[in-house]
Amino acid sequence: YSEEDNADDYLFKIVLIGDSAVGKSNLLARFARDEFYPNSKSTIGVEFQTQKMDFDGKEVKAQIWDTAGQERGAVGALVVYDISRRQTFESIGRWLNELHTHSDMNVVTILVGNKSDLKEAREVTTAEGKALAEAQGLFFMETSALDSSNVTAAFETVVKEIY
Ligand code: GTP
Ligand code: MG
Repeated sequence: YSEEDNADDYLFKIVLIGDSAVGKSNLLARFARDEFYPNSKSTIGVEFQTQKMDFDGKEVKAQIWDTAGQERGAVGALVVYDISRRQTFESIGRWLNELHTHSDMNVVTILVGNKSDLKEAREVTTAEGKALAEAQGLFFMETSALDSSNVTAAFETVVKEIY
């Protein structure tokens, strides 16, 4: 077999979903390019990035989609809210429904509370995030695309579990 074929065996589709402005595009930019955009515009149209990762010396490629409506065929999902806006946490149930309507029930999912750097503005406690994740059988992590905390860990949690 060629190396090309081998790599294709480990190409996983992952989707980033959640309310507007929770930081989906910046999580992807931080993970894939180590970049952050303080004034990023709302994503219009379909965007994805392919990111290579190494596990046990094997190359895994994650194709990460940054737009709702692309859930078909996904094997992993990051469902994101903003810890400083409770409304975005209350939308999580709808995003999970949307995910399960369009993808396999077994899609590996992590609940992500982004913007953990905004300590003064926090409206959703870590315990609340954890409790929802446990009730829904999801992984859970709080992240900050701004200060990088847990960003790589969140993506790797999903890819490791799939792989
Ligand atoms: P849509 O494309 O509209 O769905 O939004 P999005 O979820 O992709 O959000 P985006 O990444 O564009 O971020 C929205 C705003 O939040 C931008 O001003 C970002 O700079 C800011 N932002 C994203 N992540 C963080 C974070 O971890 N901390 C802080 N403080 N701001 C963040
Ligand atoms: Mg976006």
